[in-house]
Amino acid sequence: MNIQAPRGTYDVLPDQSAKWQEVEQKINELCRLYQYKEIRTPIFEHTELFQRGVGDTTDIVQKEMYTFQDRGERSLTLRPEGTASVVRSYVENKLFGLPDQPVKLSYFGPMFRYERPQAGRMRQFVQFGIEAIGSKDPAIDAEVISLAMEVYRSVGLKRLRLVLNSLGDTESRIAHKQALIEHFEPRIEEFCSDCQTRLTKNPLRILDCKVDRDHPLMETAPSLSDYLNEESRQYFEEVKGYLEELGIDYVVDPNLVRGLDYYNHTAFEIMSDAEGFGAITTLAGGGRYNGLVEDLGGPESPGIGFAMSIERLLLALEMEKVEIGQSQNLEVYVVAMDQSTKKKAFSVVKDLRSNGISADMDFAGRKLKAQMKSADRKKAAYVIVIGESEMESGRVAIKEMATGEQQQVSFEEIAETIQTKKSLEE
Ligand code: HAM
Repeated sequence: MNIQAPRGTYDVLPDQSAKWQEVEQKINELCRLYQYKEIRTPIFEHTELFQRGVGDTTDIVQKEMYTFQDRGERSLTLRPEGTASVVRSYVENKLFGLPDQPVKLSYFGPMFRYERPQAGRMRQFVQFGIEAIGSKDPAIDAEVISLAMEVYRSVGLKRLRLVLNSLGDTESRIAHKQALIEHFEPRIEEFCSDCQTRLTKNPLRILDCKVDRDHPLMETAPSLSDYLNEESRQYFEEVKGYLEELGIDYVVDPNLVRGLDYYNHTAFEIMSDAEGFGAITTLAGGGRYNGLVEDLGGPESPGIGFAMSIERLLLALEMEKVEIGQSQNLEVYVVAMDQSTKKKAFSVVKDLRSNGISADMDFAGRKLKAQMKSADRKKAAYVIVIGESEMESGRVAIKEMATGEQQQVSFEEIAETIQTKKSLEE
């Protein structure tokens, strides 16, 4: 049997890569505007990092990690997410010592989760994420959310919904945890074995359970919003105030719990309301993690961040029928009528490229008609035909494919004319 790509993975083929590059370009530009600097961490880490960082009772750690032993018998794991690695690096490299806190970091790269693959859920997927570590200013929460929204807006998505919740501070969470235990304990044997373990270890996770989600006790479970202390309530109000200042609409959903253990205070997800989306409509998720740096051995350094997968962003573009990646289409196709004019065509192509204009020609011995077809397939904006008469007169016709219009110019004027046409289009 032929070897295929592993389940839940895929190839980005050349006809798709322009979209990926455009998304990445937009992201890089936004990170520059917001001053989030890229950090690159290893693709695999010590397994313990995720056990401690993401949390032992989460689905990610219990069921979804790609964990293996290396030849030195260390337990390593392909990263299922980026936050734990970024925080590890912040601690290990003593970035908490930098005078400019918060340290604002961004990352872009593959993550791995052993999940059941479906549209928008892959086993290898690419996350873009940011982390602002070293500040508990509610304004930075709004900044992080704002950057996430801007990424989607910059590629042309409109049908977005920002869902917000507060998970409160430790004190609020302990009070809520106690209430959850009291709520579920009397009927815990009706729940799956995972939930039975979660009851003592982390009852909040029960609310996240995919198996028992229709159990009647789920709906009546005590909501964290009723257990927020004054400080947590106040913090949440301030975050909302900053969002309003930025004109960012949101809905508060007290049932929003995230699938990772490190969160407190602000938690958020951005969903797509585009028609045709399957079961998975969450485009991005994030939140505040005030204890994580300490859990991983650093000094008190509150943080917040988010991550989004590019796969889901591209899916949302498809659903909203937004086309991107066109800027990489071919600008000029140069046709050589026959072998005698090929060298001239070759040098015209070179000259165009030197002037920053994308240009291409035939390398398969095609006749004139077939070359024209090839130019069409490549979506060339302009075509130039070079035959004997052009060689004699020293002039060529630049044909604009969209309109059929032609303009006669000398060989020397080709690049300049195209440049002028391009700048008129912009
Ligand atoms: P997460 O909610 O596990 O959070 O994932 C964030 C985003 O990654 C999701 O909203 C989705 O876009 C994408 N994603 C997750 N799993 C898959 C998958 N199997 N296939 C495709 N896309 C997927 C985190 O990872 C946190 N580290 C986010 C964060 C950063 N919180 C604070 N800072």
